[in-house]
Amino acid sequence: MKRVAIDDTNRQHVLLCHVDDQYYAIDDLCTHEDFSLYLGCLKGDQVECSLHGARFNVKTGCAEEEPGEIPLKTYPVSIKGNTIFIDV
Ligand code: FES
Repeated sequence: MKRVAIDDTNRQHVLLCHVDDQYYAIDDLCTHEDFSLYLGCLKGDQVECSLHGARFNVKTGCAEEEPGEIPLKTYPVSIKGNTIFIDV
């Protein structure tokens, strides 16, 4: 997974995840306490927050392990040539 800036100020990020030969994009901030998920780890199709262990499905954004309850926003991803586009 890779954290990607989505604005010129470099303050907003999404997390681009490569799972099952597909790319998925989700908000970088954990919905539990706004901690960056890029500091966590990708396990299968779940990203685990390194602060308290919430897990989110990178394909759907759904919170699948407490203390995560609120889903992450997901963004459509497309590939054209060698470039990955995230529709934010
Ligand atoms: S901030 Fe992510 S689980 Fe608490």
